[in-house]
Amino acid sequence: MSKLLVKGRQKLSGETYVQGAKNSALPILAATILTKGENVIYNCPELSDVDASSRILRYLGCEVERYNHTLIIKGDSANRSDIPDELMRKTRSSIVFLGAVLARMGKAKLSFPGGCEIGPRPIDLHLKALREMGAVIKEKHGYLDCYAPSGLIGAKIALSFPSVGATEDIMIAASLAKGTTTITNAAREPEICDLADYLNKCGAKIYGAGEGVIVIDGVTSLKGSPHTIIADRIVAATLMACAAVTGSDITLNGIVSSHLASVIPVFEDAGCNIKCSGGSMKFSAPQKLKSMKVVRTMPYPGFPTDAQAPLLAAACIADGTSVFVENIFENRYRHTGELVRMGANIKTEGKVAVVEGVNSLYGAPVEATDLRGAAALVVAGLCAESSTEISGIRYLERGYENLELTLSALGADIKKV
Ligand code: UD1
Repeated sequence: MSKLLVKGRQKLSGETYVQGAKNSALPILAATILTKGENVIYNCPELSDVDASSRILRYLGCEVERYNHTLIIKGDSANRSDIPDELMRKTRSSIVFLGAVLARMGKAKLSFPGGCEIGPRPIDLHLKALREMGAVIKEKHGYLDCYAPSGLIGAKIALSFPSVGATEDIMIAASLAKGTTTITNAAREPEICDLADYLNKCGAKIYGAGEGVIVIDGVTSLKGSPHTIIADRIVAATLMACAAVTGSDITLNGIVSSHLASVIPVFEDAGCNIKCSGGSMKFSAPQKLKSMKVVRTMPYPGFPTDAQAPLLAAACIADGTSVFVENIFENRYRHTGELVRMGANIKTEGKVAVVEGVNSLYGAPVEATDLRGAAALVVAGLCAESSTEISGIRYLERGYENLELTLSALGADIKKV
């Protein structure tokens, strides 16, 4: 089993390109099944979660080819409506295939996604919305059996929480539904806008993505299109944390700085100097970070839950007390136990983590148990005295493309063994 070996305390310098966003790529790949003709998806990160979605598409009968960061997908030959349990379990976000397969095939059979490492991941909002659009959904023996014999029908859907996945599932399904669908309390994440941009290029009529109300006028067919995936704002935040803990100056290229509007002030409060222009960010860290005060995770445009773990790792060596409040997922502090093994002073109670900054972390064997928690351990390893051995890096590889190569090109002493 692979591990990462990190020898801490090396300064980073230079510039790097931030990979395409996993959370955009996954729903866009699912949406390709609605289209006829060729989709060319550029800037698609090479990740195990993306491979898992490609395997689902192939199983469903689509043609999928990959040339480095470009995926070419033809959905014309899609002929299956079931997704086996083994493929569904590979990626937690496979539920977004439900709306896509149902819209394309008029039926879908897929396994109920289980809980996951960051807490239960219910799908009640997805199911309620699709039922409101006329789907008949039976839940039995761990499977969802769904039918829309006369097609999905536009509906007024009010989400009780702005779920990212549910908003995406509804947008995809509604694109080919009869009539107009309105989603109120829709998620506003940049990845929602990216999905809407892609679908609109294919001929969909989606208005208001990025706002709380999204209106989708159903169309009868969609035509494949080229599309470039946006930059991954969470990877950018993680690299900012890596530079912050090592007192480094780095430049991030290919980013969209407005997508980081809630993250940048947290680093600025900690004493970092950040200048954005065009698609570039110059990030400059002080020798000693100041505390981050209170960081509350929220739906976008609030502070992203996915950036909580890497920033919390940086707060471990800041001067003073930082408080984190995790409002989106339960169980999102599992990395804190491993950070404590490295000398961090963290107390957690329910949604809250209180981090008392220490002078230094020290290397230890640690184990990642989820994707962003794994990134937190890398951040900690980069600033720790001596060597840190991180196992469980399959989690990291779900969302970060060769993070160790990116960091070693910037001067870190990190390798996969
Ligand atoms: C997506 C992201 C994930 C990010 C999360 C929140 C992808 C592939 N994943 O996950 O990285 O951490 O958004 O920004 O894009 N909920 C329900 N019922 C539902 C759906 C969700 O109760 O039917 C709850 C969840 O348990 C959670 C909250 O809503 O507490 C947010 O979930 P959601 O926004 O749906 O996250 P995902 O789409 O799963």
